[in-house]
Amino acid sequence: MNNIIECRSLSFNYGAGITKTSVLKNLDFKVKANEKIAIIGQSGCGKSTLLNLMAGLDTPTDGEVLIDNTNISKLKEHQRTEIRAKNLSFVYQFHHLLKDFSSLYNTALPLLIDDMNKNEALLKAEKILKKVGLESRINHKPSELSGGERQRVAIARAMINEPTCLLADEPSGNLDEKNAKDILDLIIELNNNQNTALIIVTHDLNIANKMDKKFDLINGRLNESL
Ligand SMILES: Nc1ncnc2c1ncn2[C@@H]1O[C@H](COP(=O)(O)OP(=O)(O)O)[C@@H](O)[C@H]1O
Ligand SMILES: [Mg+2]
Repeated sequence: MNNIIECRSLSFNYGAGITKTSVLKNLDFKVKANEKIAIIGQSGCGKSTLLNLMAGLDTPTDGEVLIDNTNISKLKEHQRTEIRAKNLSFVYQFHHLLKDFSSLYNTALPLLIDDMNKNEALLKAEKILKKVGLESRINHKPSELSGGERQRVAIARAMINEPTCLLADEPSGNLDEKNAKDILDLIIELNNNQNTALIIVTHDLNIANKMDKKFDLINGRLNESL
């Protein structure tokens, strides 16, 4: 099956000389279409660094990242942006919503940036906001929402352009236990419905166990745990 993301002998260092921190070391990794993967690892082991590299937001010190079978380091910046927009979406620990905009506009944003007709984009945003249980919060701004609700908007925004792969970096890290479970269940449900590949960084073993595969990031490499 087609690989959505592939890392080949990926290495990454921060800094140089005496401040050099070697975070990833010759890491190999593949994600197939529809595959659901959990990445687990101690704080500071390089999980966010790895996700940023897989998204082409950082440049490897060594090795390659392929998105949809294309080596992204060989692309020009605008081509990298294009391949990222076509394939990937993100949910972070912090929601990164625009504070002056309603849930509806925050959700529709990827479509509006992509030049979709405004009414069509807003209609699609309304539909997905209903799916994430926010039909009564469509016109609320982020400051008028709870933490869990903000993450729901972030998830709706991430899924609205039907990515081939969702990268979720500790998406429930800021939430209480009940909200965290609800948010993680919602991510899994939406990704199953939309046939999206999912790479989720989480400390929640219940969620990790629901994925097709789980990996520990240790000493700069991913080890599959059974
Ligand atoms: N901009 C940076 N400059 C130098 N070191 C960094 C930078 N960002 C992260 N690090 C270091 O790289 C390591 C991995 O960070 P990160 O990928 O954020 O870990 P995780 O997401 O697993 O908690 C940590 O030791 C961190 O201190
Ligand atoms: Mg992190």
